[in-house]
Amino acid sequence: MTYVVTDNCIQCKFTDCVAVCPVNCFYEGPNFLVINPDECIDCDACVPVCPAKAIYNEDDLPDDKRLFLQINEELSRVWPQITDQKDPLPDAAKWDGVADKLKHLIRTTPES
Ligand code: SF4
Ligand code: F3S
Repeated sequence: MTYVVTDNCIQCKFTDCVAVCPVNCFYEGPNFLVINPDECIDCDACVPVCPAKAIYNEDDLPDDKRLFLQINEELSRVWPQITDQKDPLPDAAKWDGVADKLKHLIRTTPES
């Protein structure tokens, strides 16, 4: 099992999740964070602290967010680890709750 970051993190990146994760299994892209499913210990600490309510236990993923399981797995292999909380993206408050944000996901890695 694992926990999964879903669409409402896109363009927000509040990073409160990073501050509470005991195993540092978050990885950071330009406008989204993902969880490495092999490292997550299913502790549930990140779910209540995310202001965007973007994190789910894999078993609780709504059908329309199941594709994020694959996205987290894939991008956590190429993005760098993030271990410290930082400021949210500048327009985080504006983007929180906007529907259909997947089209805004930037998948580039720091090298590309
Ligand atoms: Fe980290 Fe726990 Fe959240 Fe998994 S469930 S990402 S281990 S805080
Ligand atoms: Fe994203 Fe929520 Fe963490 S918005 S960066 S999953 S606190």
